[in-house]
Amino acid sequence: MYHAMVAREVDGKITLAPEKIDAAELGTGGVLIRVQYSSVNYKDGLAITPGGGAVSSYPLVPGIDLAGEVVESDDERFRPGDPVLAHGYGIGISQHGGFAEHARVPADWVVPLRYLTPRQAVGIGTAGFTAALSVRALQAGGVEPTSGPILVTGASGGVGSISVDILVRLGYDVVASTGKPEAADLLARLGAEVVGRVPEDATELKRPLGREQWAGAIDCVGGQTLAWVLSTVQHGGVVAASGLTGGPGLPTTVLPFILRGVTLVGIDSVQVDIATRRRLWHDLETDLGPEYLDDLVREVAVRDVQGTIGTVLRGEATGRTVVRVADGF
Ligand SMILES: NC(=O)c1ccc[n+]([C@@H]2O[C@H](COP(=O)([O-])OP(=O)(O)OC[C@H]3O[C@@H](n4cnc5c(N)ncnc54)[C@H](OP(=O)(O)O)[C@@H]3O)[C@@H](O)[C@H]2O)c1
Repeated sequence: MYHAMVAREVDGKITLAPEKIDAAELGTGGVLIRVQYSSVNYKDGLAITPGGGAVSSYPLVPGIDLAGEVVESDDERFRPGDPVLAHGYGIGISQHGGFAEHARVPADWVVPLRYLTPRQAVGIGTAGFTAALSVRALQAGGVEPTSGPILVTGASGGVGSISVDILVRLGYDVVASTGKPEAADLLARLGAEVVGRVPEDATELKRPLGREQWAGAIDCVGGQTLAWVLSTVQHGGVVAASGLTGGPGLPTTVLPFILRGVTLVGIDSVQVDIATRRRLWHDLETDLGPEYLDDLVREVAVRDVQGTIGTVLRGEATGRTVVRVADGF
C-alpha cells in the first residue's frame, strides 16, 4: 500500500483527500518511481475544478510534475536509485500523477536528472519547461537580445517568473507585467523592469494596432492581454503563447500579422516528444537554468496541497510551489 491524494467526483463536486492505494493498482512495466516531490501548476487546479476541462474521469491522483528515484525499470537506461523527473503526456490528467508516494510511467516519458535534485527539477517543473520552450520559440524566430525589449505577462506566476529569469540570464531586456504589487521586488531582483497588468489603459483594447514596443513576448495569460500584446509587438516580432489565465478567447484582428509580420507561436508542453524533452531538460540543467530558482520556490507538504491549489486558481500565487511527497502525508 502507498499514500496518495485522490481526487474523486462526488455529487458534481471534486474532493481531494489522502487515501491508501494498493500497489498492485499501478500495474507492471515501465518505470516505477518513488516520488519525492511534485509541484503545483495551474493545470493541477483545473484537474480538481468541476468542468475544468483537464480531466475526463475520476478517481485520479493529480500532480502533473513528479520527481524522485527509480525503484524498478523495464528499460536498462534507468536503474534503481537513479534520480528522474516525469511530466507531460497523461501524467496527473489521464493517469495517476505526482501527489502520491509511487508512480509508474512508461520509460519513454522519463527524463534522467544529472545535475538538478528532484526538488530543484520540480521547482522548474512544467511551468519552467514551458518557459524554456517559449524562450526557444523567440530565439527560433530570430529575436535576439539586441532586437529590443521582451514583454512577459503573468510575470509573477510559474511560467512568467521563470521566463523572466531565463531571459535576463540570456541577456535580454525584460519588461515584466504583473497584477501583484507585492511581486515587484522579486521581479526587479530577477533583473526585469516591472509594470502593472497590460494594458494599463483599457481604451487601448479598442485599437487593432498600438505603438510598437516589444521585439517579442511570452504570454501565459491569453484573452484580451494576448490581443493587446499582439497589437503592440514590433514589426517581425514573435509572441509565444502558452496559457489562458485571462481567458481562452482571443479578440484580435489579422492586422498585427498582415501589416507587421508578427508571428504567434503556440506552446504545448504536453506532447513534446521525449528526445526534445530530454534535450531541453539538459539545457535547463546547464546553461538555460533559472538563476534565482531558490528565490522563486516555496514548499508545502502534499497533505496541505489543496490550499495552495486554490491560491493558484485565484491567480494569487507567486513563483513556484514544490510539493513534498516523501514524509508529506
Ligand atoms: N501550453 C502549455 O503547455 C502550458 C504549460 C504550463 C502552463 N500553461 C498555462 O499557462 C498559464 C500559467 O500557468 P502557471 O503555472 O504559470 O500559473 P500561475 O503560476 O498561476 O501564473 C499565472 C499568472 O497569470 C496571471 N493572471 C492570473 N489571472 C489573471 C487574469 N485574470 N488576468 C491577467 N493575468 C492573470 C497572474 O500573474 P500576475 O499576477 O503577475 O499578473 C498569475 O500569477 C495557465 O493558463 C496554464 O494552464 C500552459
